[in-house]
Amino acid sequence: MLQYLLPMDIYKRLLAYVKPYKGRLTLAIVCMFLFSLANAMVSATLYIIINGLENKHEVHMDNIPHVPFLTSVSFPAIWIPFLIVGVFFFRGLFDYISNYQMSSIGIRAVRQIRDDLYEHLVKLSNDFYSRGRTGDFLSRITHDVGSIQGAVTDVIVDLVKQPLVILFNIPMVFIWGGPNAIFAILIFPLVAIPITLLGKRLRHITKSMQERAADITSFISETLAGLNVVKAFNREEAEISKFRAINRSVFEYFKKSVRITVVQRPLVEILGSIGCAFAVWYGMKNLPPDRFIAFVGSLFIFYEPLKKISKVNSTIQQSIAAGGRIFEILDAVPSIQNRKDAVPFNGKVENISFDGVSFSYETGKEVLEDIRLDIRQGEIVALVGESGSGKSTLVNLLLRYYDPKKGAVRINGQDIRDYDLKSLRDSIAIVSQDTILFNSTVSENIAYGEPDAPVEEIKAAAEAAYANHFIETLPSGYDTPLGERGLKLSGGQRQRIAIARAVLKDAPIVILDEATSHLDTGSERVVQTAMENLMKGRTVFVIAHRLSTIQSADRILVLENGRIVQQGNSEGLLQEGGAYKKLHDLQFSL
Ligand SMILES: Nc1ncnc2c1ncn2[C@@H]1O[C@H](COP(=O)(O)OP(=O)(O)O)[C@@H](O)[C@H]1O
Ligand SMILES: [Mg+2]
Repeated sequence: MLQYLLPMDIYKRLLAYVKPYKGRLTLAIVCMFLFSLANAMVSATLYIIINGLENKHEVHMDNIPHVPFLTSVSFPAIWIPFLIVGVFFFRGLFDYISNYQMSSIGIRAVRQIRDDLYEHLVKLSNDFYSRGRTGDFLSRITHDVGSIQGAVTDVIVDLVKQPLVILFNIPMVFIWGGPNAIFAILIFPLVAIPITLLGKRLRHITKSMQERAADITSFISETLAGLNVVKAFNREEAEISKFRAINRSVFEYFKKSVRITVVQRPLVEILGSIGCAFAVWYGMKNLPPDRFIAFVGSLFIFYEPLKKISKVNSTIQQSIAAGGRIFEILDAVPSIQNRKDAVPFNGKVENISFDGVSFSYETGKEVLEDIRLDIRQGEIVALVGESGSGKSTLVNLLLRYYDPKKGAVRINGQDIRDYDLKSLRDSIAIVSQDTILFNSTVSENIAYGEPDAPVEEIKAAAEAAYANHFIETLPSGYDTPLGERGLKLSGGQRQRIAIARAVLKDAPIVILDEATSHLDTGSERVVQTAMENLMKGRTVFVIAHRLSTIQSADRILVLENGRIVQQGNSEGLLQEGGAYKKLHDLQFSL
């Protein structure tokens, strides 16, 4: 898909999600500043404790000759306990406030990104989805967005707080260690370099790991959706071993990443201890005990920030990878758009025409070729033809799931691309071969397009669709939950609910795309009557694989490889011979 985004641009766009929270951010940064100050005081506390112990009831800071203003400071040792609690109280308080603020910014940013993503996914046109895998989109909206949460905020924390901690701590090292402490500070790059190198390697591993993780989601969502097929073909073991292979490759990356993440801390500590050993050796020779302890303490304070800063880069890289995958979706432009000067369609159909319409899903493979059609108001048009001949594609163009590559679909002479998309879709009711029921009650499913429809209308629609009888036998009637977590209905029952949905929509144009394909002959007759109710007074496109259901159509179009090869009424077409007669003979000889 899109690959043009630069890492820096991605990161800037991620940070843009933090922008609305300037107030919180400022508060957090102020608190990080105060935290670093309090943190630097920890080594001073150590000095004061030891100094107090040595001088019994007094603290005299008189052994720091290179910091003249401290040498005259003295106070009673009874302050020490208060000092300890005070330093840690403020240190904890500011840490809490800054972390709280940053985390709330993080979860808010993630909520916003997820909302944006879902909104965009729903608005994207069909052509986008035929290019990708649903599991991949799922993984982006869950996994990738999740991994960004820390990235946006932790990085800000680590790039602001940790340098402040280091900055405020440096003078402390010199206060306790004296001017020669410069050597102790110079040792730190020794720790930082190997950690940075490890970080780089980790980044590569994480990237591959994220991609594999997306494979896992895709695989699971695909096989679970087709679990019955898996079982019917006895492919459980095969799918299980395929899954194991994918899972194993994720595991291999995890193993590598675990090796690195786990070695990081001991490595810092061992290298740090070498540095410390030098410092201690220097301190033992040159420093009194109170300054010595404070000096070592101030060196330890560098650990945490160095470790965090060495990890920042890998966090940034991770979030850039995830951000890239998110913005790829957000940047995809819905190919079906409302024209700026679109006019609302008034819902009065005088005629519908296909004016030299050609269409292909992929360039070079024509699915419809030069379709020319004129349909008047109230006509019932049937489309027949072998599967794959383009029947569904033709009727879907009316709804603008896709736009034609050549020619135009017109209603009342006006290109449907000139109509406001909502008003256009408002005037078309479709019952298709795969009936989608949502995870809500029967009534809500029937009233999906008109959530405010009164109960009587919903019931009337169900009656017209011959669905009322079976609905009334459901455990809670019209309030029975359906779908994912609810009751499972038979194919025919689902289809009748879909028909009721279309009846309730009361649109001037009706499309029935193999709406009876899941029905047995008995219920087909019932649904046939239901559909006749639905068709009354409307302009109808009906696709049926059983020719018996379309005998009464005003006009039958025969499609072959995306072309209309014959049209007329059933009798005429039979006399004409050709494609229609072949289809007819095939079905009625059975
Ligand atoms: N979303 C899609 N992406 C790519 N090709 C498609 C898509 N939908 C249908 N096709 C192809 O277009 C052709 C016509 O399909 P369709 O209109 O569904 O036929 P029918 O409804 O007559 O069975 C087929 O060759 C089919 O493989
Ligand atoms: Mg079809």
